[in-house]
Amino acid sequence: KILILDFGSQVTQLIARRVREAHVYCEIHPNDVSDDFIRAFAPKGVILSGSHASTYEDHQLRAPQAVWDLGVPVLGICYGMQTMAVQLGGAVQWSDHREFGYAEVRAHGHTKLLEGIQDFGTPEGHGMLKVWMSHGDKVTTLPPGFKLMASTPSCPIAGMADEARGYYAVQFHPEVTHTLQGKAMLERFVLQVAKAQPDWVMRDHIAEAVAKIREQVGDEEVILGLSGGVDSSVAAALIHRAIGDQLTCVFVDHGLLRLDEGKMVMEMFAGKLHARVIHVDASAQFLGQLAGVSDPEQKRKIIGREFVEVFKAEAAKLKAGGAGHKGATFLAQGTIYPDVIESGGAKTKKAVTIKSHHNVGGLPEQLGLKLLEPLRDLFKDEVRELGVALGLPPEMVYRHPFPGPGLGVRILGEVKKEYADLLRRADAIFIDELRAWKDEATGKSWYDLTSQAFTVFLPVKSVGVMGDGRTYDYVVALRAVQTSDFMTADWAELPYGLLKKVSGRIINEVRGINRVTYDVSSKPPATIEWE
Ligand code: XMP
Repeated sequence: KILILDFGSQVTQLIARRVREAHVYCEIHPNDVSDDFIRAFAPKGVILSGSHASTYEDHQLRAPQAVWDLGVPVLGICYGMQTMAVQLGGAVQWSDHREFGYAEVRAHGHTKLLEGIQDFGTPEGHGMLKVWMSHGDKVTTLPPGFKLMASTPSCPIAGMADEARGYYAVQFHPEVTHTLQGKAMLERFVLQVAKAQPDWVMRDHIAEAVAKIREQVGDEEVILGLSGGVDSSVAAALIHRAIGDQLTCVFVDHGLLRLDEGKMVMEMFAGKLHARVIHVDASAQFLGQLAGVSDPEQKRKIIGREFVEVFKAEAAKLKAGGAGHKGATFLAQGTIYPDVIESGGAKTKKAVTIKSHHNVGGLPEQLGLKLLEPLRDLFKDEVRELGVALGLPPEMVYRHPFPGPGLGVRILGEVKKEYADLLRRADAIFIDELRAWKDEATGKSWYDLTSQAFTVFLPVKSVGVMGDGRTYDYVVALRAVQTSDFMTADWAELPYGLLKKVSGRIINEVRGINRVTYDVSSKPPATIEWE
C-alpha cells in the first residue's frame, strides 16, 4: 500500500485517484502524522503532495522523519519536492509569487520514473513532457546523492532523483490531466519503483467503506434523502449494505420527476435491496405552491424550499423514533469529492443551488443530526463503478444528470400537472429511442454518446392536421448535448433517422402534442436547460 502525505493541496485526492487507477491501495493522511503511525502503516512507498497557494507558514511544513528512515521510495510533488530538498540537504528559493500554467519540461538522463515516457522528442534527442506546473518556489541546490531529472528554462531543477534510494521529485503536478503523461508517471512510481501490488479493486473499497460506516454509526440510526440520482442511490446502497435496517431512506416525490421514476426507485430499493424507504408523495403540495408562478428562479426557490420542508417533517418523525426504532441520529448525504472542492472553492450560483437542493445544505445542524458522507473521497466515475459493484443496475448508475427542480425547469413558465404529464410521456419516448438507436461506427447507443438529453415543454400551441381534422396543440423541443464538464456543451448531431422516429412517435402517441423541434444551440451562449 501507498501512503500519501497531504500538505494541504486541493488536488491531493487526485493523487489517490491515480493510484487507485493503477489498482494499488492507498490512504491520505495529514503531513504531520507521527513517526509511529508511519512505521505501523508500513507503506511500500510514500507520496508527498503539493500545498495550497504559497504562504510563508507553509514553508515550515515537513514530512515526518520516519518517512526517510523507512527505506522505501518517496515521490515528492511540487511542495513535496521542496520539503524533500530541504530535509535531505538541498536548498530552496522561496517566493511569494506563484503562477500556474502549462510548461514544457525537458527530461535529463534516464530515470526509472520517466523511462519510456515523453510527449515528443527534440531534434537533439531529448524527451519533452507537457506538464501543469507551479512556478515560484524552486529547488536551487540538489541534495547530496541526487541528480537532475527534468528542467525548464525558468525552473532549472524541475525534477530530481536519487535512484539508489528510490527518491524522486517533480515540481509539476503529475496528478492533473493537463500533465499528459502524469498518470503514466504515477503508475510507474507505484508499480515499478515502489513495487506495490496492483490488486486493489472496487470490491475492496466496499469492504473498507462498510467497516468504516459500521464503526462510525455503531447501533445508531440513519436517515438519507433518496433522489433517484446516482450519488444518493449509491450512498443508500452502500450504507444499507453496512447497516441494513438502521438506515431509512426518504424519497420525496415532488411530482416533477421523469415517467415511472418513483416506481423504479421503490422497486429497486424497497423491492430488490429490501431497504426501508418512505415514499412521500408531495406532488399536490408542490404543484399547489407553483400555481401561477412563471419566473424560473422563483420556481427553483419554491421547489427547493418545499423540498426542505417535506424532508424536514419526515426527518423529525424519524428522529423521534417509535415503533421499535429509537430515533435517527445521523443524516447521510451523497456528497462526492467534487462537491467538497466546490464548496471550499469558488461557488457559482448554480453550484449553490445544486447543493442546497440535493444535499440539503444546513439541514444536519437544523435537525440536530450528525453527518454521514461515505462517498466524500470519490470522483463521479468511481461512484458509478462502486454502484455497479454494489449491484445497482448500470442503467441507473450511468444515467444522465437530472436537475433537482426536475421538470419544473423543463416546463417553460407556469407549471401545470397537465403539462408535466404530457412532457413525461414525450421525454420517455425520446430517451427510449436514444437508448435503442446504436451508432454504427462505435456500437454505442446515442444515450451513451450524449451527456444529457431531455425534452422541454413549450406552453404554446401550433396548428396541425390529423386525418381530416385540424389540431391546435402544444410544442416540445428535444435537447441533446455532448460535454465533459457541463460548463460548455455542443448540441449533439443526432442521426436524422433517430429524430424522425422520435418525432413520429411523440406526435402519434402523445395526444396534445402536435409539433416536435430539435434544439441546435450550443452552450454558451445558450444554457443546457431552457430555464
Ligand atoms: P445549464 O442549464 O446551466 O445546466 O447549462 C448545467 C447543468 O446543471 C444542471 N442544472 C441544475 N441542476 N438544480 C440542479 O440540481 C438546478 O437548479 C439546475 N439547473 C441546471 C443541468 O441539468 C445541467 O446538467
